[in-house]
Amino acid sequence: MIEFEKVTFVHQSGVKALQDVNLRIRKGEMVSIVGENGAGKTTLVKHIIGLLKPTEGRVNVFGKDTRDASTAQLSRMVGVAFQNPDHQLFCETVEEEIAFGLKNFGFSPDVIEKRINWALGFFGLEKYRKNPPITLSGGEKKRLTLACILAWDPEVIILDEPTVGQDAIQKEKLSEIVRMLNSMGKTVVIVSHDIEFLWPMQPRVVVMSSGKIVADGEASSVMNDSYLLEKARVTQPQLIRLYNSMKRKPQRPFRDVFDAERHIMEALSVRTG
Ligand SMILES: Nc1ncnc2c1ncn2[C@@H]1O[C@H](COP(=O)(O)OP(=O)(O)OP(=O)(O)O)[C@@H](O)[C@H]1O
Ligand SMILES: [Mg+2]
Repeated sequence: MIEFEKVTFVHQSGVKALQDVNLRIRKGEMVSIVGENGAGKTTLVKHIIGLLKPTEGRVNVFGKDTRDASTAQLSRMVGVAFQNPDHQLFCETVEEEIAFGLKNFGFSPDVIEKRINWALGFFGLEKYRKNPPITLSGGEKKRLTLACILAWDPEVIILDEPTVGQDAIQKEKLSEIVRMLNSMGKTVVIVSHDIEFLWPMQPRVVVMSSGKIVADGEASSVMNDSYLLEKARVTQPQLIRLYNSMKRKPQRPFRDVFDAERHIMEALSVRTG
């Protein structure tokens, strides 16, 4: 459904932001993309929506080469909440911001009204309905960009650093939204440095470093690979680090947070009891 074939991208400045990237994302997958600052994660996302076109290689989205499709066409199927919401919000009021995409995609006025009401309520933005998006807090702006996308219900939802600026409740809610969308069959791609947010959702993990994909696998294997994560400057989940520091190597990699918790509790009860 989303396919990168030997993609290299060189910025005008000469920076090679992607190098020989091969990646296939299938319908209904939950994929996380992690890696150091400047690894090329946002550049990769921009290719999916056609904002950037490969210098070499090919990107196919829903069977279409992104060179032959406009960003507007691709956006109907792929909604991206970008890392920096200030680059994405430009309308005079919050409700107009949500209506913008819906109008462009030809939804009828009564559907638009219903979707605006749903999105404002769901993301706790009702009280800002008539306010300029620019006046919202950083966390609220991030939520608004997500509200705008979910309002038009794209097949693929891409979130670039969605937890930045979100408080504990909003983060929990975000995690529920991601799981819900994915269980409804939507494809979700999350770019994040927030490993503690990603790990419990058990996504496929794509690790990037210097414009390349250096690992791609299930969370249960990638998150246990201390050497790989350290090299790619990705923080390993705290519970795994704690267990490793107790000098008790897991018999097998931890499947998830609950697995890790159980092993740590067992190890502690042996020590104290
Ligand atoms: N418009 C641009 N012009 C020139 N170089 C750019 C531009 N945008 C990004 N780059 C460079 O491309 C490389 C990849 O940047 P990118 O934004 O994709 O990284 P990232 O993995 O998303 O990093 P972060 O974790 O900081 O968000 C970096 O070296 C960056 O400096
Ligand atoms: Mg980025």
